[in-house]
Formats: sequence, C-alpha cells, structure tokens
Amino acid sequence: SRHFNVLAIESSADDTCAAVVNSSRRILANVVIKQHAVHEEFGGIYPMSAINSHQQNMPYAIRRALDDSRLDIVKDIDGIAFTRGPGMPGCLSVGMNAAKSLAAALKKPLIGVHHMQGHALTSTLTSWPNEPKYPFLTLLISGGHTLLLLAKSNRLFEILATTRDESVGRTFDKVSKLLGLKWTNLGPGDALEKFCAEEIEVDHPSVPPFPRPLHGQLSYSFSAFHSHVTNFMNEHGGHEKVDILTRRALARAFQTAAVGHLEEKLILGIDLCKSKNIHIADIVVSGGVASNQYLRKRLVSCLAEYDRHTSYHLSFPPPHLCTDNAVMIAWASMHRFLANESDPYSIELRPKWSI
Ligand code: KG4
Ligand code: ZN
Repeated sequence: SRHFNVLAIESSADDTCAAVVNSSRRILANVVIKQHAVHEEFGGIYPMSAINSHQQNMPYAIRRALDDSRLDIVKDIDGIAFTRGPGMPGCLSVGMNAAKSLAAALKKPLIGVHHMQGHALTSTLTSWPNEPKYPFLTLLISGGHTLLLLAKSNRLFEILATTRDESVGRTFDKVSKLLGLKWTNLGPGDALEKFCAEEIEVDHPSVPPFPRPLHGQLSYSFSAFHSHVTNFMNEHGGHEKVDILTRRALARAFQTAAVGHLEEKLILGIDLCKSKNIHIADIVVSGGVASNQYLRKRLVSCLAEYDRHTSYHLSFPPPHLCTDNAVMIAWASMHRFLANESDPYSIELRPKWSI
C-alpha cells in the first residue's frame, strides 16, 4: 500500500502537541508541551491562559516535530491532521488555524479528527501486531475523561458510560490534596497510590464506609467520594489534626471504592454488550489513572473472576500515549487519508461533538 506521512496537531485542552506518524505505524516525532505552571497555580485549566500558552508554544511544537522527524514539510509530509473537537473552543482554534494555514499554503490534504476517536484508536497503533480486534472496549480514565467506549470499527464508536460530575483523575487529585499529601514527580494521584501502598499496620483505624453512587447503573459519579473525604476531614479538623494511620485508612478506603466503581461499570458494560450479542475479546484501559498498579491488579482479577469461560485480553497502552498527544490524532486520520478522503479548508470546529 501507499506510504503516507502525517503531521498532526492537538490543542484541545492544556497540552500543545505536534507529531509525525507514517502509514507503516512509525512514530517519527511526538512533541508535547505541557502547561505545568497553570495547572499547579489554579488547580485546573483556565481558558485564557491555556489559549495564550497554545499561541506561544504551537510554532515551536510544530518546528520541533518536523526537526525530530527529519522530514521536509514540502517534500515529505503528505497530509495535515488536527483535533476538530471536542474541547475548549479557544484552544482548539489555535491548532485548527495552524493546520489549515499549513495545509492551504502547501496544498496538502487536511483532516479534522475527533479527540476521543484518537484516544480510542491508540491501542490499534501501539499493540501491533497484537492489536485489539473490533469490537473492543476502551476504558479512558484521566484528569479530563471518565469514559467507557465501544469501538465497533475505526469509524464507529459508542459511549457506553461517562461521568455525571467529576472525572476519576481529578477526584484522586482532590482527595490527595485533602489528605495533605506531597506530590510525587508524577503528581497528586500517584502520591495517593504510593501513600496507600506504604507499610501495612497491625491496627486499622476504622473510617466510615464509602457510598456506592449509581449502583447498578451504567454511569459514573465521583463527587460523592470526594465529599465523603471532605466531610470526614472537616469533622476531624483537617489534615494537620488527623493522624497518619487514619489518613492512610481513609486513602485506602477511597482508592478501593473508586476502583470498585470503575470495576462495577466495566462489568455492566460487558453485560450490556453480551445482551446485545456483541462479542468482546479485548479491553483497553488508558489515561493517566491507568498507571495505577492497584487498579491494574484489581481489573485483571475481576475479569478473571467474572467469566471463567471467556478470557478477556486486557491491555494498557504506554503512559505517554495514553495522555493527550498528537500521535493519536495522526493515527486516527490515517485510514481516511489512505482512502483519499480529506476535509475542506473551510471546515469548522466541533467543540461539543458526540462520538
Ligand atoms: O491522562 P492524564 O495524564 O492527563 C489529563 O487528563 O490531564 O491524567 C492525569 C490524571 C491526574 O488526575 C492524575 O492525578 C491521575 O491521572 N493519575 C493517577 C495516577 N497517576 C496519574 N491517578 C491514580 N493513580 C495514579 N498512579
Ligand atoms: Zn484526552
């Protein structure tokens, strides 16, 4: 088949990303410029500062991706892809305008990609040659997403479940903060996991049991876990007053409940597919929270227990391709470029875009 090089741009949230990927599944460049300072200062993404950072960083991200790839944009790049949505409109437009201008100036075909399709298709790139076979399930758990997706083909996706309130990643972050934990270099969620894993005490201080929100329903909710921790800490005078053993018991109970919640919904999702006669063999778990080792172990054993006759193949793409990146955007555009499809240069953003 034809050899094709894609330059892709992603700017839907707070990371400014550019990448070059070819049709032989080689990643020739993967540049991600993060906005750490913004995150740490406000504990969230502030639209105006995110837009400003994209505007400052985008030219460098693109230049570096091309340098890393050792390709020439005029001679070697065959198509330009960008994230069309969903995401923050101001952020998306920085990436879209860069992509459009390059494509129009250089007379290259242009394709606008759905951000979630990018995440959902990542494993078909990274797990080669044992990539998941359609239909497969993707559990996307990060700071930005809490989603259970059914990938039916490279063009057909269905959201089986999403969160009604907070994302699972942000909930780990907030609970970590409430417990007064110091960040590890991998952030507050990782700090919480490490804190839970510290030595086992003989004496387990008791903490009130966590709620089971939306039990039996194929939908996520994390705000009740968050308020459970908030209430306990407030009633006991904040993290400076609560002894470390109690804080650790609370952290563990939170992590157990949060992972239990994800587990329950995954099983409900598999049940739903079964009831519709959709045979699932592969389950891909991705996003920042998927790096949690406790979660990985629980999902493995829960699936093994769930159905002793079916063996599910559980996979985790490498962490740097689970978080937002432009490699996944390039890859999600590839099958369309290879089918000679392209979008008009007048294409518009879809900040709210169901999959
Ligand atoms: O995919 P990601 O890196 O980017 C965004 O969504 O922005 O996900 C980051 C999220 C954060 O909320 C972080 O605390 C969480 O993933 N996270 C973890 C762990 N490592 C990162 N949560 C639980 N356990 C971990 N080990
Ligand atoms: Zn994302």
